[in-house]
Amino acid sequence: MVPKVSERIPSVGLGTFRLKGEVVQQPLRDAIRLGYRHIDTAAIYRNEKEIGSILQELYRDESNQLSRSDLWITSKLSPYDMENPRASLLQSLSALQTDYLDLYLIHWPAVVRKVPTNPMHKILRLEAWRALNEAKREGIVRNIGVSNFTPNHIQEFLHETDYGIQGIFVQMEIHPWYWRDAFEIQTKFSKHSLVLTGYALLAEGKLSNSSCPEILETIRERLGITRVQVILAWVLYKGWTILVKSEDVTHLEQNLAADKMVRLLTPEDCAAIDAISSEGEEEKRCWDPRAVV
Ligand SMILES: NC(=O)c1ccc[n+]([C@@H]2O[C@H](COP(=O)([O-])OP(=O)(O)OC[C@H]3O[C@@H](n4cnc5c(N)ncnc54)[C@H](OP(=O)(O)O)[C@@H]3O)[C@@H](O)[C@H]2O)c1
Repeated sequence: MVPKVSERIPSVGLGTFRLKGEVVQQPLRDAIRLGYRHIDTAAIYRNEKEIGSILQELYRDESNQLSRSDLWITSKLSPYDMENPRASLLQSLSALQTDYLDLYLIHWPAVVRKVPTNPMHKILRLEAWRALNEAKREGIVRNIGVSNFTPNHIQEFLHETDYGIQGIFVQMEIHPWYWRDAFEIQTKFSKHSLVLTGYALLAEGKLSNSSCPEILETIRERLGITRVQVILAWVLYKGWTILVKSEDVTHLEQNLAADKMVRLLTPEDCAAIDAISSEGEEEKRCWDPRAVV
């Protein structure tokens, strides 16, 4: 039996970073119409209010047959609000016009405006983890997790809190030039039923420029799919879920369809994509938490 959306995170989610304010409205409407059921937002994306009102509009229109329980909504605690996790969560719930979130993440392992070695980061991370666990117990969030945390940051929750990390969700940058840290996290915490979600899968434009590796073109041609679909299917093949942002209906459609292309990839294809980067020479493209103590 296929699990209900509320029971398992959908494999492909709509990213909404940079879709600030009203810009999010059309891509969100298009995505829901196409069948997206996971929406990823964050307090710092400044679009929770607009997402909340579009969703209300979509629920009201009976022809959509859409209700809150059909969706998986993720939001994140802002690094500006690390000192007020509960108030920040309540604000996200109110903006999104919902009684609960399917997933709430600590967006970043540090608080803003402090050097990475400041001891306050760790104090606030542990405090935020306590607040998220209590919110989960209360039922206003169904699942909790972290984003952009290193294995050491995650380990602290295991060793230095009473809450542990069972069923933790981890969202992080993943693409062919940077995937081994995700693999390390998955391996290290596998017995805790960790769920990994990748973002920036197109490596911030690297896929579309002239340095795009030949192997992606070879696989794309053989399978008759797009280069982006090859990458998305490669991440899904590893058992991870994905987020992609697009304002283009064709791209939205292609990205959602990547889920059906996983079975086309062979283990050899995946190994060849793994080998696009070498261990020790990975190229992280987004913000880097490794200096945060
Ligand atoms: N936790 C974090 O710290 C964090 C950080 C970054 C992102 N995220 C989440 O992950 C989501 C995805 O990451 P992202 O938005 O940075 O980057 P992304 O989804 O990897 O890439 C977005 C770019 O790729 C293009 N694109 C999308 N699908 C395409 C396709 N099929 N073919 C060609 N181009 C395509 C989009 O252009 P078009 O609009 O023209 O299609 C857009 O310019 C975010 O929106 C956010 O929800 C989380």
